[in-house]
Amino acid sequence: MKTEVLQGKIALKRASELIAQGEVVAFPTETVYGLGANAFDSEAVSKIFVAKGRPNDNPLIVHVADKSDITPLVDYISPYAQAIIDNFMPGPITVIMPKSDKVPSNVSAGLSTVGIRMPMHPVAREFIRECGLPIAAPSANTSTHISPTSAKHVYDDMQGKIPLIVDGGNCEVGIESTIIDTTTDVPTILRPGAITAQDLAKVLGQVVNFTGEVVVAKAPGMKYKHYAPTCEMVVAKELADALAEYDRKSKNCRPVLICSTIWTQKVGDRRVIDVGDNDKQVARNIYGAMHEAQEIGDYIICQDFGDSGVMLSVMNRVIKASGGKRI
Ligand code: TXA
Ligand code: MG
Repeated sequence: MKTEVLQGKIALKRASELIAQGEVVAFPTETVYGLGANAFDSEAVSKIFVAKGRPNDNPLIVHVADKSDITPLVDYISPYAQAIIDNFMPGPITVIMPKSDKVPSNVSAGLSTVGIRMPMHPVAREFIRECGLPIAAPSANTSTHISPTSAKHVYDDMQGKIPLIVDGGNCEVGIESTIIDTTTDVPTILRPGAITAQDLAKVLGQVVNFTGEVVVAKAPGMKYKHYAPTCEMVVAKELADALAEYDRKSKNCRPVLICSTIWTQKVGDRRVIDVGDNDKQVARNIYGAMHEAQEIGDYIICQDFGDSGVMLSVMNRVIKASGGKRI
C-alpha cells in the first residue's frame, strides 16, 4: 500500500473519504499523532489493531469535535466527568466513562467503559467534523515504538501500512493526554500528562494516581512495554555520571545525550540533543529527541528531569523508554 502525506483542505477531503470507506487515517493532535477510524464501525477499528500490531485487549480512545458528540457514546456523565469536560475540554485529556451500546466492543477491548477525548488541535477538530463521526484512535505508531509527534515520525514508522497521513506540523504538547477514570469512587489518573494531578485536584477536589495491580488495560502502558526506542536507553540524575557513561560507551558505540539546555552547555563536543530550557519545551521535544537519537546513535543517555509538574509525566515516558535503567 502506498502511504500518501497530504496537507490542508485536500488532506481533509481525502481523509474523510477514506474514513467513510472504513479505512484508517493518521492525523495530528496537540499531544501526538493518532491513527483514526470510524468508532462506530468495528471492522474499520480492527484495521487499526492490524496496522499497529496492537494487542486487542488494549482499548482505544474515542475522539470527538464537539461536546454534544459525547452524549451518544456514554451511558451517563457523572458530575466529576462533567467538571472535567467543562474545565479541560478541548485539551490534552481523556476521560473514562461508562460506555453506551453504540460503541463496538473492540474499541473498548471488551470493557464496559470508554475513553473520550476532545482534541484542541484545529486540524484534528476539522478532520473529525469533516468525517461527521467519532474517531477511535490510538497513537499512530507501531505497538511498542515511540509515539509520533510529526508526520515524518508517522511516515518512517508506518509507511506501507496505512493509506494516508494528514500532515499538521509538529505536536505542541508532545506527550499523550492525561487519562482520568471517573468511574471509580475517587477520580483516578491512569496516565499522567500535561494536565497534572494538581490541575485536576483544583477542579475535582480530589484525585488519586493509579497504583494497583495491572489488570486488563486498567493502567494504560503499564501492562505493555511502550515507547521504547530501538536502542538501549538509560537515565542519569547527575551530569558528571552522564558524561562518564558517555565517554566509557563511546569506545565501542555511538552514545547520544538527551538533556536540557543547562546540561547541553557543559557537554563539550559530545553528541547531544537539547530539549530546551523549560517544562513545556522538554515535553514538546522529548519524543522527537528519542526518534532522532535512535537514528544518529545506538545508546541513549537521558537526563532525569525530576518530578515537579509536567516533568512527572515526561519522566513517566522516559522511564518506560529506558525500561527503568539508571546509571
Ligand atoms: O493523547 C492521546 O491520548 C493520543 C492521541 C492520539 O489522542 N492517544 C493515545 O492513544 O495515546 P493510545 O492508544 O496510544 O493510548 C491510550 C491508552 C491505552 O494505554 C489504553 O489502555 C487506555 O488509553 N485506555 C483506553 N480506553 C480505556 C478504558 N476504557 N479504560 C482504561 N484505559 C483505557
Ligand atoms: Mg500509544
